[in-house]
Amino acid sequence: MKKRVAILISGGGSNMEALLEAMTDPDHAAEPCLVVSNRPEAGGIAKARARGVATEIVDHKAFADKQAFETALAATLDAHTPDIICLAGFMRLLSAEFVTRFETQILNIHPSLLPAYKGLNTHARALADGVAIHGCTVHVVTPELDTGPILGQSAVFVRPDDTPDTLAARVLTQEHRLYPAVLARFATGDFTPLSLFPDRV
Ligand code: GRF
Repeated sequence: MKKRVAILISGGGSNMEALLEAMTDPDHAAEPCLVVSNRPEAGGIAKARARGVATEIVDHKAFADKQAFETALAATLDAHTPDIICLAGFMRLLSAEFVTRFETQILNIHPSLLPAYKGLNTHARALADGVAIHGCTVHVVTPELDTGPILGQSAVFVRPDDTPDTLAARVLTQEHRLYPAVLARFATGDFTPLSLFPDRV
């Protein structure tokens, strides 16, 4: 039986697309069961539908508070019985109660080499600090933001002429390599951290 994967998005869903493409491999240990967006206008929804994946919108603005939103989100997820939940450009902070409810099943991709640069604006902060190496991390989601066990990292060399946008673009390319590679292993029950070496550029 393949593991059932639900993917949560908020925007364009480029990481979602990379995960869906990887799961078209018949030998993949997982298959997509649902794509959920908290934003009705997320471009990723159309991309998921085009691939025949079930989609749901749980609009966080339609709920009185975070708890009501998360109750609806949990119910939507439960209806599709996921074994793994992948956050992919999902921009809502999930409560400790929600994360604990889906214990160890939630993965996230974060655009930095954690534990460095938790939170937002990671590329601008990395450039401001003058780091030589930057990248992305896939980790298990725990109640504390961007802190769970690391499942994989991919690195890029920072260039002298980099701007936050050029650096983000190179990191995003690595995200699209890393997340599918980590999910493929995680779905087999292999939690060994995966390191993809810096690009040679
Ligand atoms: C990516 O930079 C990812 O690291 C962050 O959200 C951004 C957009 O992701 N979590 P996507 O294109 O919507 O997958």
